[in-house]
Amino acid sequence: GSPELLLHRGCVLIQGTHLPHEVDQIRDLEIRDSDVFVVTFPKSGTIWMQQILLLLQSKGDVERISKTDKFSNGDVVPWIEVKGQVHKFVKAESPRFRVTHLPYTFMPIALSHKKGKVIYVARNPKDVLVSFYHFHKLAMMLETPRSFGDFFDKFLKGEVMGGSWFEHVKSWFSHKDDLNMLFIMYEEMVQDLTAAVRRIAEFLDIELTQDQLQNVVKHSTFKNMRKIPQANYEQVPGDLLDHHQGSFMRKGITGDWKNHFTAAQNQQFDEVFNREMKDFPVSFTWD
Ligand code: PPS
Repeated sequence: GSPELLLHRGCVLIQGTHLPHEVDQIRDLEIRDSDVFVVTFPKSGTIWMQQILLLLQSKGDVERISKTDKFSNGDVVPWIEVKGQVHKFVKAESPRFRVTHLPYTFMPIALSHKKGKVIYVARNPKDVLVSFYHFHKLAMMLETPRSFGDFFDKFLKGEVMGGSWFEHVKSWFSHKDDLNMLFIMYEEMVQDLTAAVRRIAEFLDIELTQDQLQNVVKHSTFKNMRKIPQANYEQVPGDLLDHHQGSFMRKGITGDWKNHFTAAQNQQFDEVFNREMKDFPVSFTWD
């Protein structure tokens, strides 16, 4: 088929994967205090956070989360905006863990009354762009880019699923204090996963022994997640991911943009970044 993006009230969705009328229902969902939403722009650490949430819930017991008939963690911690998921969310048992790439304006209003919790994961946008470029070759629902340069332009214009990276981060961050929200960076997770997992556990009021904490960390490293079929997405059916084109768990590093950007592209990117993010109070790690 020929997958197409869909512009819906300023939000870029994927035709067939998302249904606009369902996406619109998300705003009015009833939220429970135990609900947790992981919010990311695509390629910023979504599946990493799925794994960490499941491990925190099982107190680091990787056997327990692997003993499932599900293809991937994405079936256990689904994207709320994907077709059919709103209906399932309403009926699901607590605690409901969900991930989403949606912009702030589409999220449940109840979150802004401090119901439920939000974990926002941000990643430096140059690496997001590179990861997203490679993912487009893998993902059957996304159009294979004509070239890196072509994708680079689309990303800067916000003509990709998820829309503008700049708007996404800025709008969510600007509502940080209205929500129960933890803002965490992909790069800090790469640098010190133990500290990051500790922060996440504390935020979710999950108490762990030292051993349990170590197990959560151990089974959420890039190296180990790559070996766990549910965590690395290798079992996702071929009509969704073309596994011959590469691995979802691609590199898991910081600074890979340096292997992709030309000097001119880097300059162009910096200009847009500096303009868009000049008032943003958090700095990013680029290497
Ligand atoms: S998606 O499609 O939006 O859900 O993708 P997402 O999961 O947000 O992002 C995928 C990138 O995250 C990397 N990843 C990790 N990095 C470090 N450590 C761990 N454990 C980990 N798990 C996933 C994954 O490799 C993708 O980044 P790139 O740069 O492409 O490797």
